[in-house]
Amino acid sequence: MAISSQTQTRQSQVSAAVTIRLFGTRDYEAIVASEILGFAGFWHVPWALNPRKFGMGARVHPDARRQGIGTALWGRVEDALRAREAISVKTQVWESMPEGLAFAARTGFREGMRAWESRLDGASFDLPTFRPALDHALAGGMEITVPATEREKGRDNLRRLHAIEAEIAEDVPRPPDDVHTPVPFDMWREHLVDAPWAIPEAYFIAVVGGEYAGLSSLFRPQVGDWLNQGLTGVRREFRGRGIATALKVRTVLAINGRFGFVRQPAWITLQKDFGE
Ligand SMILES: CC(C)(COP(=O)(O)OP(=O)(O)OC[C@H]1O[C@@H](n2cnc3c(N)ncnc32)[C@H](O)[C@@H]1OP(=O)(O)O)[C@@H](O)C(=O)NCCC(=O)NCCS
Repeated sequence: MAISSQTQTRQSQVSAAVTIRLFGTRDYEAIVASEILGFAGFWHVPWALNPRKFGMGARVHPDARRQGIGTALWGRVEDALRAREAISVKTQVWESMPEGLAFAARTGFREGMRAWESRLDGASFDLPTFRPALDHALAGGMEITVPATEREKGRDNLRRLHAIEAEIAEDVPRPPDDVHTPVPFDMWREHLVDAPWAIPEAYFIAVVGGEYAGLSSLFRPQVGDWLNQGLTGVRREFRGRGIATALKVRTVLAINGRFGFVRQPAWITLQKDFGE
């Protein structure tokens, strides 16, 4: 793709500015005091760990867009990824964000997967219709518990919980070239159980015959007056018995579409391949 000399000049100027503002100092206060126009970073994906595959994100302040800052940030990320002999890098862009899609297309990303976010207005939830699903499961012997209760019962129970999350996570849809890897226990505990965004009383575990059969959890967002749904899943041998439906009713949320979730634009996973 041809780049005009004017664009090249603009981008190298911006690149220098970004370098000074974002990377030129390790002094935190200096960074805060200066004008941050955007940031970008890349990381390994713990649930699909491959030392040569990465995730990335880039954000430019809305007032500073279309000035080459995103391109300059991406240049730094791309150089660092190539230095690490990356095979590929993935990012997620919301379907309704044309600037993100245009930017990704221009920098050589291709679509790999779509996943739809769904939202449920708590006030519109039809509890009388769905409550019987929970009552039926409880009458059939299923119990619902939370991590604090299980921790009190036995020291190993948190590890058992981690093991079933890892087992269930294997069946969560993912980009075709990703191979699932279990998230290590300490990382799982830090990010999902003891994290400030965790809601311990809204992490529900279904127990059938003394076995952990499934789970469903809610998390607090950093901002906003809604809750995020974490993993909902049932172990393979317990599927088809209404356990997921009962858990969803318990969280006063529900399976997509059936209970009034409204489908939002897709999150598109975009991927750039560097070759083996
Ligand atoms: C995507 C984003 C990082 C681009 O930042 P930026 O500094 O505006 O990007 P640049 O100025 O370097 O633009 C590079 C090219 O992307 C494309 N592009 C960016 N915004 C666009 C828009 N609104 N419409 C059409 N094309 C666009 C253009 O081809 C542009 O080149 P041009 O200005 O010479 O035509 C920024 O819009 C953003 O933060 N969006 C929200 C987060 C996001 O979607 N991140 C991307 C995935 S991690």
